[in-house]
Amino acid sequence: MCGIVGYVGEKKVTPLLLEALEKLEYRGYDSAGIALMTDNGIGIKKTRGRIADLRKIVEESGECGSTVGIGHTRWATHGEPSDVNSHPHLSKSGRVAVVHNGIIENYMELRDFLITRGYEFAGETDSEVVSELIDYCYSGDPVYAVRKAELQLKGSYALGIIFSDFPDQIFALRKDSPLIVGIGERENFIASDIPAILKYTRDVFRLDERELAVLTRRSVTVLNSFGERVDHVIEHIEWDSGAAEKGGYPHFMIKEIMEQPDAISKTIAPRLAEGGGIELGFKSISDEDLKNIESIKITACGSAYHVGVVAKHLLKKWLNIPVEAELASEFRYDDPIINERTLVIVISQSGETLDSLYALREAKAKGARTVSIVNVVASSIANESEEVLYTWAGPEISVATTKAYSTQLVLIELFGIRMAQLRGTMSPERSAALIESIKGIPEGVSHILKDVQTIQYMASLYFNSQSVFFLGRNIDFALSLEASLKLKEISYIHSEAYAAGELKHGTISLIEDDTLVIALCTYRPLLEKMISNIKEVKARGAKVIAIINEDDIQTGTVADHIIRIPECDEIATPSLTIVPLQLFAYYIASLKGCDIDKPRNLAKSVTVE
Ligand code: M6R
Repeated sequence: MCGIVGYVGEKKVTPLLLEALEKLEYRGYDSAGIALMTDNGIGIKKTRGRIADLRKIVEESGECGSTVGIGHTRWATHGEPSDVNSHPHLSKSGRVAVVHNGIIENYMELRDFLITRGYEFAGETDSEVVSELIDYCYSGDPVYAVRKAELQLKGSYALGIIFSDFPDQIFALRKDSPLIVGIGERENFIASDIPAILKYTRDVFRLDERELAVLTRRSVTVLNSFGERVDHVIEHIEWDSGAAEKGGYPHFMIKEIMEQPDAISKTIAPRLAEGGGIELGFKSISDEDLKNIESIKITACGSAYHVGVVAKHLLKKWLNIPVEAELASEFRYDDPIINERTLVIVISQSGETLDSLYALREAKAKGARTVSIVNVVASSIANESEEVLYTWAGPEISVATTKAYSTQLVLIELFGIRMAQLRGTMSPERSAALIESIKGIPEGVSHILKDVQTIQYMASLYFNSQSVFFLGRNIDFALSLEASLKLKEISYIHSEAYAAGELKHGTISLIEDDTLVIALCTYRPLLEKMISNIKEVKARGAKVIAIINEDDIQTGTVADHIIRIPECDEIATPSLTIVPLQLFAYYIASLKGCDIDKPRNLAKSVTVE
C-alpha cells in the first residue's frame, strides 16, 4: 500500500527521502515521487515505476540542497499507475503539495465542486482532490485550511502536506490510515512505518485518529480535532535497523521463515505462568467475562484469516461453544449476529488492515467483547480493541507473511487453552499436555528448517506447474488455504485449496495428467478418507506430494512423494505442517525468478477497503 515519508531538519532531504522510500518498498507500489521545499517554491519529481527510476530523474536534475520535503510510494487504486497520477500532488497554484495514503470516497463530488470554482485536474486520482481542496480552503493559516478541508473528506487518509508559504514546516493528518512521527535532534519525520526512519531515529509515536501534527526542525505540535494540544508518550524502538535488513539472506521471506523458532518462542514465553497457567495480562476483560462468553467470532484477512480457520476447529472443540471464522471484508456487511456475550477476535500482523479495523469497529458497535492478536505495537487495531495480545515476531517485511502467521497461531491456541481452563472444559492434565506441546513447537520448526534440501528438490521438479491443488480435511484444509495462498501470491502459479471431500463435486474435472496435488494428511481422524481422495486424483493422472505424520506408513504407498512432519501432539501439528509448505512456495518462486518480497500488485499493509 502507499507509503509516506516527510522530513524537516538540517540534512539534505532528497537522498534521505529516497532512502526512506526504499525502506517502504516492501509495502508494494507502482510509482513514486517527492516534493521539496526550494528557494523557488515547491519542486516535484515523480514517476511511474520503481524508486530507482525516480532516483535517476532526481540525479539528472541535480541536487537542490533542500532540507524539507515529503515523499510517497503509490499503490494504484483510483487511476492507473502513471506519472500524472503519482504523488505528491501539487495544487495548480503551486502553494500546497500533498501525499496521501487511503481512499477519498467522495472525491468525484469534491472534484465537481472544485471545478465549479475554477479548479482543474490533470489526473484521475482521488488524492489530487485533496491538494486542490486544501488550496481552496487556504487563506494564510495552514492548520485552519487542513481542518476546513478535512470536514469535507469522506474515507480514509494519512496525509503529508507542505505549504510554499511555510517553508520550514510539514503538516500531517490521519484517519483510518497509519502515520507515525519520528523525533530527532534538530530534525523530525513522518512516515507510514518505522523502518523508513529507523536509520535516523528510534523515538517515535503514532498519531491517533484525526490528529494533526505540525513539524518544524525543533518542534512537533499535535492537535486533536478540537484544536487542543495533545502530548504523546514517545516509544523508543528497541529493535535495530538490522532486524529490518536481510542479514545475508537473499530475501526477507526466507529470513523470516528461518526466524520462526525464535519468534514463536518469544511469543509463547511471556504467557507461560508457574504451575501450567497462562497469563493473558488482560485488564478490561475479566476471567468472569471470559467464562460468560457464549460464542466466538474470529475475523481477519488473508493469512490472518487462515489462522482463524485453524483456530475455529480447535477452540470449538476445547470450549464447546459456537466458534466461527469470517473474512473481515465480509463480516461488516453480513449483519453479524453478536451481542455482549460474543467475543470477537481480530487477527492482524500490521494492525492497520482497514477491513479488519472496520470489522472490529462493527463488533464494538454491536456490543461484543473484543480481543485482537496483533504484531505491530500500538497500531490502530491494537489500540481500538478492548484487549490486545501481541505476537512478538519482530518486523515482518516480506509481503508474504510467514512468522506472523506462525506466531498468531500459537498465540490464539494459548488463548483458547486459557479460556478452556477458566470454563472447565479441558482437564488440567490435557491443558498441561497441550502447553508442553506448544513449548516444543520452536524445536520442531527448527528441526524442519534444518533440512530444506528435500523441499528444494521437490520445488525443482514442479516449478513449471501451471496449476497446483492443495487438499486437506478439517485442520489440514485450513492449512491448505494458507499453503495455496503462499504459493500463488509469490510464484504466480494458479493454485486452489480444496476440502478434499469436496473435490469430486466439480473441481476434479480440472485434474489431468501431471497436475500437481499437494495432499495434507496430518489430521489423524480422517487419514483413511484422505488416502481415498489421493487415489481419486491419482486415477486421473495427478502427481501427489503428501505431507504426512512421522509414523504414517500407509500414505507413502499411494503418493508420489512424501514430506514427513516430526512426531508431535495434534496442537503442534499445524505449526509444523505449514513450514515445508512455506518453503515449497519460496523455492518455487525463487526458481521462477519472481520478485519474492514484493509480488506484483500486492501490498504489505492493506489500508484500503
Ligand atoms: O496485516 P494483516 O495481518 O491484517 O494482513 C492481512 C493480509 O493482508 C495478509 O495476511 C496477506 O494475506 C498476506 N500477503 C499473506 O501472505
